[in-house]
Amino acid sequence: MRSLYMDIRQLLREMSLEEKLGQLTQLNSNFFKENTAEITGPAADLGLTIDECCLAGSVLNFDSAETMIAIQKIAMERQPHHIPLMFMMDVIHGHRTVYPIPLALGCSFDMDLVSRCCSMAARESAASGVMVTFSPMADLSRDARWGRVNESTGEDPYLNYEMAKAQVKGYQGSSLMDQGTMVACVKHFAAYGGGEAGLDYNNVEISEHALREFYMDGYKGAIDAGARMIMTSYNAIGGIPATSQKHLLTDILRNEWDFDGTVISDYYAIPEIASHGVAKDDKEAAMLAINAGNEIEMMSSSFLKYGKELLNENKITMDQIDKATYHVLKLKEELGLFENPFRFASTDSEKKIWLCDEHRAIAKEAAIKSSVLLKNDGVLPISKNTNKIALIGPFANEKEILGSWAIRANTEDTITIYDGIKKYCTNSQIDYVKGCDWDGSNLACDSAIKAAKASEVVILCLGEHQSLNGEGASRAKLELPQGQIELARQVISCNKNTVVVLIGGRPQAISDLVDIAPAILCMWQPGTEGGNACASLIFGESNPSGRLAMSFPYSSGQEPIYYSHLPTARPPKSRKTIDYEYNVSRYIDVPTDPQFVFGYGLSYTSYEYTNLRVDKRHFTEDETIKVCVDVTNTGHMDGEETVMLFIHDMVAEISRPVKLLKDFCKVNLKQGETKTVEFILDKNKLSYVHKNLNRYADKGEFEIFVGHDSDTNNKVLIELV
Ligand code: BGC
Repeated sequence: MRSLYMDIRQLLREMSLEEKLGQLTQLNSNFFKENTAEITGPAADLGLTIDECCLAGSVLNFDSAETMIAIQKIAMERQPHHIPLMFMMDVIHGHRTVYPIPLALGCSFDMDLVSRCCSMAARESAASGVMVTFSPMADLSRDARWGRVNESTGEDPYLNYEMAKAQVKGYQGSSLMDQGTMVACVKHFAAYGGGEAGLDYNNVEISEHALREFYMDGYKGAIDAGARMIMTSYNAIGGIPATSQKHLLTDILRNEWDFDGTVISDYYAIPEIASHGVAKDDKEAAMLAINAGNEIEMMSSSFLKYGKELLNENKITMDQIDKATYHVLKLKEELGLFENPFRFASTDSEKKIWLCDEHRAIAKEAAIKSSVLLKNDGVLPISKNTNKIALIGPFANEKEILGSWAIRANTEDTITIYDGIKKYCTNSQIDYVKGCDWDGSNLACDSAIKAAKASEVVILCLGEHQSLNGEGASRAKLELPQGQIELARQVISCNKNTVVVLIGGRPQAISDLVDIAPAILCMWQPGTEGGNACASLIFGESNPSGRLAMSFPYSSGQEPIYYSHLPTARPPKSRKTIDYEYNVSRYIDVPTDPQFVFGYGLSYTSYEYTNLRVDKRHFTEDETIKVCVDVTNTGHMDGEETVMLFIHDMVAEISRPVKLLKDFCKVNLKQGETKTVEFILDKNKLSYVHKNLNRYADKGEFEIFVGHDSDTNNKVLIELV
């Protein structure tokens, strides 16, 4: 067989400088319109000629297999070496069949499920010609004010690591040559979630220690799983834009992590280096980006425009351009584009697999397993034989419960909560009343009260609309709109059998609701099958098992709030109450802890943890420790429990989190059943990043907590000797 590797090297030798810079440029599909006689609109702003556009190496955002095939044909005809384009898109949580937002998936703690979701997204989007998805988003998210927490898997570094791995495995499969796979581009490198005040695109002020100890794990998980591309982030860290940080893109990514894939900037992030005020113009920005290690420039043209001048002035090197171009060509080779530039794009396949039964079933399973039961005074589950149900609230019959990133979805395909309940309870009378709009306006309580009074049960659907999440959608107020709260007050006061279904893309500050609602089921933005999943959970066909991947605050003012905080020298006596105390680390108006902690989540059954034990109390660096606990289903329904293991390093060179998740596992338990859950600990699990920035474990004592959530106090002491 011909060595393709040799072909790429040969191709590289034959390419002109302009062609190479073209490969390093990514443009929107609008730039490749067949009959573009003269360039207008965004293309004109970029200052590119049509010939330059046709030198581009990749395309972002296009709508279908048909468009992709048409663009590929035109571009290959015009590119001097007929090099195929690479097509990329944000396939974040599904393509046409939409599964729950990534933050919800985090709450499933189920890697296999997450991989299956991503494989399905890859199958559907690869049929449209997508070759690279800008996912997973592995940014550690500790501040619910940030609009993009919906796209992350939450506040915990270890969970992020595992979730990023699972997503990459799902997208890329075992070989990119396999049908229905695509490249995973992990983003946003680095620490995009750490923006000050939860504000999007804001500066991040974290130490090198915190960066390496907490923020890097998600990206590392994706790279360990073989992600072939990484995207730089918009933010500056310590005043230096990530897109121009050699320390991140070369020292850490290439030299420490041995990443041999391709680096892409975020959308227009290279000219924005100048907007950050560290380059005087686009040309200098391009120089800084290339020298830092950026390879593909997304949706701007400074490489194409200034690459040659920068080379002539010796500000960048030919070797840098060649290496970057080689990485792009190599990825095209890995995708099989030199043999088949259209890959799996086919209008027939789109029709066959989009929204097929198998995919809808996965989306429903994911929506069930990622929903978190926040409160239940015994109202749930509701009997299927209920005669009269009032379905109230702005989200009760709302199709826009998909999430802010479902860019290729058609909301018409959404099963609303109303659709799902109606289908499930064919014999019940369902009285639907909207009550108010999602922003709380147009409040009309009378009909809602009437329906609530006349029904045995009320399902009240409240929360946050998807337009309040996503890029540029930071919020200072995480509380529900007044109109929604008033609707809840009125309805609950006349029917105590009220269940709230909470929709949203971030943890919300819902203490007012928690005070009055008999039951609350958080379904996030559950996707295409949201309504069917809701019915299955509410009527007890499925038992809620999701657990919070991000803490819910009492109040917006507590943000950022996360369980793995460091100890304070002045802790309050209780973090759960508001006691009057002098000079301690507490709030005087809300409890210090969040309302619902990381890992929290109820079930229709109950679990008991007993007999936590270790096979040895002291162990050396070459040994492992076995930690076991017996978990019993003490309730009246079969269920699935996520068992979590946290550590606390008692004395270290750097203050260590009060608890840090190091392992978890899911266990299915029938009513009355007990199973022993076993974890193995070694020195790596106990290691941390030291002052010298190296990671290793210190000798000494560690508390090992095993329990239901980060509030557990079920612990044993071990010692590394
Ligand atoms: C976002 C990225 C996204 C890119 C392309 C940017 O604005 O920050 O997450 O992948 O656009 O759509």
